[in-house]
Amino acid sequence: MTHQSSADKSAASVTSAKFGKKLYQPYIDAKWGLKNHWFPALYSHELADGSFGSTTICGEPILLRREGAAVHAIEDRCAHRGVKISIKPHCFKKGTVTCWYHGFTYNLEDGLLTTILAAPEDPLIGTLRLKTYPVQEKYGIIFLFVGDADYAPVPPLESDLPKPLERDYKYFSPNLTDDNVINLGIRRSGNANWRLAVENGFDPGHTLIHWKSPLIYASNRSVPLGAKPLSDKAIRFFDQEGEPKGVMNMTVPDEDGISHYQPIFENKELGIKAKGNSGPTFVRTSMWLPGVLRVENFPAPGISLYEWYVPTTEDKYDYWEMMTFTVNDEEQRINVIDRYDNYLKQAVFHGFNDDDVWARDAMQPFYQNGVGFDEERLGTMDAVIVAWRKFLSTHARGIQTPPKELGKSRR
Ligand code: FES
Ligand SMILES: [Fe+2]
Repeated sequence: MTHQSSADKSAASVTSAKFGKKLYQPYIDAKWGLKNHWFPALYSHELADGSFGSTTICGEPILLRREGAAVHAIEDRCAHRGVKISIKPHCFKKGTVTCWYHGFTYNLEDGLLTTILAAPEDPLIGTLRLKTYPVQEKYGIIFLFVGDADYAPVPPLESDLPKPLERDYKYFSPNLTDDNVINLGIRRSGNANWRLAVENGFDPGHTLIHWKSPLIYASNRSVPLGAKPLSDKAIRFFDQEGEPKGVMNMTVPDEDGISHYQPIFENKELGIKAKGNSGPTFVRTSMWLPGVLRVENFPAPGISLYEWYVPTTEDKYDYWEMMTFTVNDEEQRINVIDRYDNYLKQAVFHGFNDDDVWARDAMQPFYQNGVGFDEERLGTMDAVIVAWRKFLSTHARGIQTPPKELGKSRR
């Protein structure tokens, strides 16, 4: 690295922000997630026509129903006695849902109480409303806009997805929004606050936990022990008005050949060298509001990995793992699905990502009561995490408040 000495100097400015915690107080307050953003709720295939589904996003219980081409999303808490309607939802009439307990019946479109099974004259009818959620079903996923009921205008879904990137000479993995792609993935629950999951997702210093991953052995990939930011350019910010907001680890050289991260392949003190010798791979990670990871050229060149870390409660998140493949014809499509089903799904989501899942769970006790944010001691490798915290504090559309049960009404 010819430019290392000057870069070393400016590395200090990359990490100096770690002392300015006040600069990201909104992030510390975002225990229950962000609000006024689009979040994935279910994969499309999880909600059959005429069926109900349910989820919890940022502490808000939500009932979903598919009726033909339309998907409806409504608060999953009956206005009468507060039970979850999703425990045993009834649909006696198209466009409505009836609570299993005493028959309060709501319009799925606007949430209005339209009748009560055993009290059709009750004066409450027409006066109560459950919250409903804007829905977009695209790219094989049902997305919901979770936030203030009166937030307007609702921004386009694509403003909350990783920005489609140009496929230049080096970065040729597809965007999930491209036409000729297939998106395949799973989701599961993790036992950590969503912020810890996000920070793990694109943490340039955490490759040690993947040290023994079968995927690394199988591919003989050259995976450094970590990466050291050399200058402020190690992190690129995407903050244009009306566009997706994100931060990118510039772990591969720019078009001009200059690297802004130095990969660490050896620790002489410990006598440890990185595994694999297949040469450099152009893997680049970026994190986007409201907490979406994109990894280019992972798990293999030409594939993109996407991950969402959707807050469920303050100590649980819904972990979405999805790969995007290019498919130009039916034969390619069959081959991609076959490779995914029989190899990549196991090797990446379980063989590799399982290590991230237990690592996040292991961080949770320290951060549980907010103590971790005071007690942590971040180093040079954490520059991008600090940058993300500040970036989110500036660009999030809102910080979610605790659920009603915890003493605050969101209405
Ligand atoms: S609790 Fe739902 S109708 Fe009574
Ligand atoms: Fe990881």
